[in-house]
Amino acid sequence: MGRFDGKVVLVTGGNRNTGLDLVERFTRDGAKVYMCGSSEASTAKGAAELRARGLDGVISQACDISDAAQVAALFDTIEHDAGRLDILVNNAANQGLGHGGPLEMDAERFWDVLKTNVVGGFRVTQTACNRFFMKQESRGVVVFLSSNTAMRAIRHRTAYCTSKGAINSMVRALALDLAPLGIRVNCCAPGYIYTERWETLDPEKAARRRLNCPLRREAKGADIANVVAFLASDDSSNMTGEIVTCDAGCSCQHMPEDVDV
Ligand SMILES: NC(=O)c1ccc[n+]([C@@H]2O[C@H](COP(=O)([O-])OP(=O)(O)OC[C@H]3O[C@@H](n4cnc5c(N)ncnc54)[C@H](OP(=O)(O)O)[C@@H]3O)[C@@H](O)[C@H]2O)c1
Repeated sequence: MGRFDGKVVLVTGGNRNTGLDLVERFTRDGAKVYMCGSSEASTAKGAAELRARGLDGVISQACDISDAAQVAALFDTIEHDAGRLDILVNNAANQGLGHGGPLEMDAERFWDVLKTNVVGGFRVTQTACNRFFMKQESRGVVVFLSSNTAMRAIRHRTAYCTSKGAINSMVRALALDLAPLGIRVNCCAPGYIYTERWETLDPEKAARRRLNCPLRREAKGADIANVVAFLASDDSSNMTGEIVTCDAGCSCQHMPEDVDV
């Protein structure tokens, strides 16, 4: 028996990197999984990768979560096809890379990040609650992905750090309002995760990043999937409004070892 047998799950940004591992985890644990990327091409690429992993049953549909009509269309598909939703994983993120420092960055690009990460995550959650969770006796569970950068900033990522801090606050606010309705909202805050971006990283930089981690390694997508699966399951049934950090101990240290003199 799988942990999520009979459950219907939506993973936003399920088409690459950590999202693929989240989709894989829920699928292998018995769930029927829907996933989206932001475009037709990226979603199709992700669907092909999932098939290559032997996961034939995943249903994919492109959906830019910053676009209300595309979110509605995705939920139309789930309603028509599955008729229910049990677990929403808000994983999609605009990383806000290459914006430069706060003095020169374009405010429109700042808004793009918030529009996806904060407003998009809110819209998908609101739609899941109104279209499904509130109509189901068993209600539903929401898991957001934020970041340890919500608490400790990284350089030249003002919009991203802002958006992840806002997600942490939104998780607590949503949890408070939705708890009486039987809907739980929690969050996993990762640190470094190995993604395709590491494949082009200077090896010295990769080694330096690992030295920055008390556990000496970045997370794999599967490590993050473990935390998300816990928060999505009945094992966490007495938890809501929590931010669970998964960052190899980065947040608990004052300084990394090589500068700790
Ligand atoms: N990687 C890390 O080290 C790290 C650290 C801390 C937290 N996190 C968080 O963990 C999660 C996964 O990280 P990751 O690095 O695996 O993510 P990623 O590689 O940056 O992938 C982001 C995903 O979000 C999707 N996305 C972006 N904008 C979207 C939009 N407007 N509508 C729908 N989908 C959209 C992308 O789809 P497309 O392919 O179509 O662009 C992609 O699937 C994210 O929430 C991230 O912020 C990551």
